[in-house]
Amino acid sequence: MPNSTRKAAAGKPSHKWPLVIRFFWQRTAGEGRVKQVERSWRESLHRRCAIRAMASFLAGSPFLRAQRDPVRDHSRVPRLSELRTVFDFEPVAYARLPRQIYDFTAYGADGEFTLRRNREAFEWVDLVARTVADVSSISTTTEVLGTKMEFPIMVAPSSGHLALYPEGEAATHAGCTAAANTTLISSHVASLPIEKIMAAAKGPVWFQLYPRQDMSENQKVLEQVQAAGVRAVVVTVDQQASAYERALHDRNITNPAAAGPPPRNPYGIRENRLWYEWKLFDELRRYVHVPMLAKGIVTAEDARLCLEHGLDGIYVSNHGGRSLDYEPATLEVLPEIVGAVQGRVPVLIDGGFRRGSDILKALALGASAVCVGRPQRWGLAAYGAPGVERVLQILQTELRLAMAASGRASLASIDKTLVRTYFP
Ligand SMILES: Cc1cc2nc3c(=O)[nH]c(=O)nc-3n(C[C@H](O)[C@H](O)[C@H](O)COP(=O)(O)O)c2cc1C
Repeated sequence: MPNSTRKAAAGKPSHKWPLVIRFFWQRTAGEGRVKQVERSWRESLHRRCAIRAMASFLAGSPFLRAQRDPVRDHSRVPRLSELRTVFDFEPVAYARLPRQIYDFTAYGADGEFTLRRNREAFEWVDLVARTVADVSSISTTTEVLGTKMEFPIMVAPSSGHLALYPEGEAATHAGCTAAANTTLISSHVASLPIEKIMAAAKGPVWFQLYPRQDMSENQKVLEQVQAAGVRAVVVTVDQQASAYERALHDRNITNPAAAGPPPRNPYGIRENRLWYEWKLFDELRRYVHVPMLAKGIVTAEDARLCLEHGLDGIYVSNHGGRSLDYEPATLEVLPEIVGAVQGRVPVLIDGGFRRGSDILKALALGASAVCVGRPQRWGLAAYGAPGVERVLQILQTELRLAMAASGRASLASIDKTLVRTYFP
């Protein structure tokens, strides 16, 4: 500090000392002594050292580090009302789950091209609005295979919810019911028995089956779930990867004991799904007395075969990019499947749906309803049943907004003229 400034500073009354301390010290040591100490403190090297030490402590502090990382932030879980889009739930779920459990939900097959492409495809579809239209009341109600729905949005089957939240699928079902009675498609490999899931809430439940080669096993499961009151059966036929790269890598970065036994042969084909033939549906039909759909259909040819084998609905899916990598996005193949089906049965679709406008695009391309997979898992992991409810409510609200903005007041008014597609 230059001498002139120093003198000026020394002459002025100091505001830096608390007044009480200054008063008593002034009384005992005298004004001159106080000024002397103040001056030496202001100029001292020790002060600068102290500030530097404090700054480096803060820079290295674990508290500060946690605050700086927006993704893995255990220090603060946002309130549910702070989350605005479905995407917002993923980082909260990530922060709350062990790494390998989070990755189990996130990963796709191999290099995850199809996983990314499922999302990317929405960017290849424009929405062409009709702006002069009466949208003062928006109607989204529909009925799919006898199940009444307030929105054409359903929850896709996904396995093992207990790993995400202590109440597992019971909480998922409660969240679905709270969100305008959304239909839950309960997975064959749910962590709770169907009776417990259905007892948790009143909303409609469909059942997803992974068929077994031994028909008596299928019969047993199908009788059990129909007795419990499921309203439709979805038979999943896509062949999933035998092992996922992220899971294999996770074995190196997490506790191998917690990761479970190593896959028997990560480069082998999953043996439990090698025997599928179309006659499977004819055989299953003997035990299914509610509507039956095939899930995992991605070509027009297979859609036609579904009709020949008496299926009541077609579910377009590439298992959320977890089946064969480099498959096209489901949105891309939807038009050819809708074309092949010619309105004879409803067509459901899933794969990357995260916004109301995504759902609107699929409806315009001919889907009867859209299913969401990962988002409600994020909601469940992050907040339990209220998280599932909120994820679905966001999608429902966004769909209504997108319908209003595009001048379509009802589902019946949503057609191909609403979209322009630029699929490669
Ligand atoms: C963690 C996880 C588990 C899944 N488990 C099943 C299952 O048990 N049965 C099934 O038919 N599909 C299952 N799927 C696929 C979903 O039903 C759905 O096809 C996919 O998640 C949709 O894509 P999205 O996650 O991008 O919405 C699972 C998907 C994920 C991410």
